[in-house]
Amino acid sequence: MSQKVGYPDYMKELIKKVEETRERRLEETFRRLKPEEKEELLRKWHPDYRPEGKRPLKIGPSRGLKVPHEVADLIEAYPLINPDEIDLSKVDYEADILIIGGGGAAASAALWANNSGIPAENILIATKLRFGDANTKMAQGGIQAADRPEDSPTRHFIDIMGGGHFANDPELVKALVRDAPFIIKWLEDMGVMFDKDEEGNMMELSGGGTSRRRLHACKDYTGLEIMRVLMDEVWNRGIRILEFSPAVELLTDENGERVTGAVLWNLETKEYYIARGKAVILATGGFGRLHIQNFPTTNHYGATMDGVVMAYRVGAKLRDLDSTQYHPTGAAYPEQIVGLLITEKCRGLGAQLVNIDGEQFIYPLEARDVVASAIIRECYGRDKGIVTPTGMRGVWLDMPMIEIIHGEGTIKRYLAAINRMFTRFGIDPTKEPVLVFPTLHYMNGGICINVNAQVLNGEGNPIKGFFAAGETTGGVHGKNRLMGNSLLEVTVYGRRAGISAAKYVKNSEYGKISLNHVKRYEKMLIEAGIPRKRKAPMLLPEYRGEKVLSRAISLFPI
Ligand code: FUM
Repeated sequence: MSQKVGYPDYMKELIKKVEETRERRLEETFRRLKPEEKEELLRKWHPDYRPEGKRPLKIGPSRGLKVPHEVADLIEAYPLINPDEIDLSKVDYEADILIIGGGGAAASAALWANNSGIPAENILIATKLRFGDANTKMAQGGIQAADRPEDSPTRHFIDIMGGGHFANDPELVKALVRDAPFIIKWLEDMGVMFDKDEEGNMMELSGGGTSRRRLHACKDYTGLEIMRVLMDEVWNRGIRILEFSPAVELLTDENGERVTGAVLWNLETKEYYIARGKAVILATGGFGRLHIQNFPTTNHYGATMDGVVMAYRVGAKLRDLDSTQYHPTGAAYPEQIVGLLITEKCRGLGAQLVNIDGEQFIYPLEARDVVASAIIRECYGRDKGIVTPTGMRGVWLDMPMIEIIHGEGTIKRYLAAINRMFTRFGIDPTKEPVLVFPTLHYMNGGICINVNAQVLNGEGNPIKGFFAAGETTGGVHGKNRLMGNSLLEVTVYGRRAGISAAKYVKNSEYGKISLNHVKRYEKMLIEAGIPRKRKAPMLLPEYRGEKVLSRAISLFPI
């Protein structure tokens, strides 16, 4: 249903300043920041640098790791189930490979397990909501791969390491960039319709922090298009799918040395089911719906970090969870769409970020953490933001620049999702700027894995039978992910997980199943004095009450 709110008169008045400076800004190349200037900006304004937002974990293999309170509250929490009340004598589902999650990493893992010789009926995808309900579908701007003559995987590698503040695991990054051109070909061969020019060449744009144009896009529905194809392929092959069945706990052998299945909670029947797998692949995504530091989010409803919680209880090591990605351009007006993604592709096509005076204040394609910090500084440090009727702040993303640079119709053609999102509310992005503010977008860190997508324990050794891929893992992006590397990560590491798990199960039988590790974890929680009332995984986020109201009026609590 259309709700034509448009801009109130005072905002229309402010937009005149944006229009007045447009011609001058067309000629203006904004200076890129020096490394020390970036550092200072991040230190002063990036939410990750607020020490009061975090605390060290008290227990487990990553004890001492500083993480946001919202993350610590879930990791240092008691299980939803009482392990003594779960009947492990009856197995409800059995599969060579049990895949937990329903997005791009899960689908890629299933397809490559099947390509590696595991029959479709021996692969089971168990997912919390519907198959495909995941951040993959919501990804807009593109997928990176260095496949042009002037580019190389080495350049891609350097960009990723720089963007991640060199905190990345270089081996994981190396595998990612090397596989990337193959992944694009694989996706295209299966039917993904990437944007092409009249000669049939791939159209590739730049993203923030990239030194070459290597973003392959399908308008601004890239994730949706990729997921459409992956889902079709999974369905066509007859891979088994169990929907509305979130995992609430992993199962291990008696000593907790091998992962052997999961306890699933059926959201419809409200019963627990036991699923056994010779190998388990975790692909449960990230933590946007934890609203770290009260930020809104671009993420889908199920992004509650369940996989990290369960993996930690079986002894997986975690990394870089101190680092949260705030996408610079979440919608800040109107209220109904606050926090939703406005793709970086807009800036790749020439949209500029301008303040209340109509002035640019940052080079639009700096890395995401830098741009987000500059917007927060503009709104809360320099008082150069625009205040909405409900008291929120934001800066302008001058969308009409795109039409001026590339010609009329560009937005409708290549940014169809953004165009639709705003025209529904009476804002025409081909003629008017849109208001933006950073929004929680991505969990930069997560579960430690190696290049074979094997989950690593506290000593850095693989946990038998246990694999993970996608946003639930850490290491690829270091402390800050660059645009277009998440769709790449889910497909590259989903594939690697599927291949590695297939290899593993060829020489394995089903293992014993137990919840002993949960009992051990509970004991640690009690010894550390963790209050009993905290329970995890969260499964479904809560959207009632005071916290939500305060989020709507105060995005950056200074
Ligand atoms: O801005 C975007 O389109 C987001 C892409 C990404 O996070 O990779």
